[in-house]
Amino acid sequence: MQSLKLNRETAHLAILQRIELCNPILKKFRKLFGRYFFTAILSKYLISPSKISKNYHKLMTDELYLIEKYLKTNAKVLSIGSGVGGLEILINQKFNNHISFIERNFISKKIKYGWDNKNQEAYNNLDLLEQFLIKNGVKKEKFKIYDYDKNNLPQSKFDVIISLYSLDYHYEYNLYKDYLSKVMKPESILILDTIRPEYFNEIFKKVEVIKKDFDTVHKSKRIVCTNF
Ligand SMILES: C[S@@+](CC[C@H](N)C(=O)[O-])C[C@H]1O[C@@H](n2cnc3c(N)ncnc32)[C@H](O)[C@@H]1O
Repeated sequence: MQSLKLNRETAHLAILQRIELCNPILKKFRKLFGRYFFTAILSKYLISPSKISKNYHKLMTDELYLIEKYLKTNAKVLSIGSGVGGLEILINQKFNNHISFIERNFISKKIKYGWDNKNQEAYNNLDLLEQFLIKNGVKKEKFKIYDYDKNNLPQSKFDVIISLYSLDYHYEYNLYKDYLSKVMKPESILILDTIRPEYFNEIFKKVEVIKKDFDTVHKSKRIVCTNF
């Protein structure tokens, strides 16, 4: 498995998407200088892309390890809020799946890590996401990126839908509820991190907790839902 190499711009995005990649000094500076300065300057220029690449690769390898038993070759995958797409690159390397991405194409001025009632926050750049996928060997015909704000979401059925620390972690499931009911089959699998796993028992017949996070922004659980 090739390691993921982030340049400064992609490493900047990864830091915004995964606060655990931020070193303690940077976290202190964030408190000292405020969120605006952190988002625009510190998290871009006060970082070591090679160190972040190493840590990001490890983080994504661990994520793959946790969910790989739900994936198989040729399964059609949808990723909602993938960030820079490291996990999806590793999935493609291992299973050669086609992956559709739904993401947003802007970076909020002041990143707030937490629940975003109106879903106004985002931290991605779709050109950088595409470049990162290609640079890491994902063939053009093996992925498609959809901008959430352009209202042209993919309408085909998916086998596996992944949304790590995004749907129902930062913004409500309701935003995607009707859409997902159209693109899921009864046997499709949905994997996400949520602060309220019990809510999903009302929608799916089977909900399995595969990870518990107690030291993240909000205490969340990773769940695997099926039998829609
Ligand atoms: C905390 S990051 C997680 C990134 C990645 N899944 C990971 O685990 O590293 C949340 C991501 O959700 C994206 N996002 C925010 N609102 C979204 C929406 N309505 N649809 C899809 N993605 C969204 C953000 O741009 C950001 O990249």
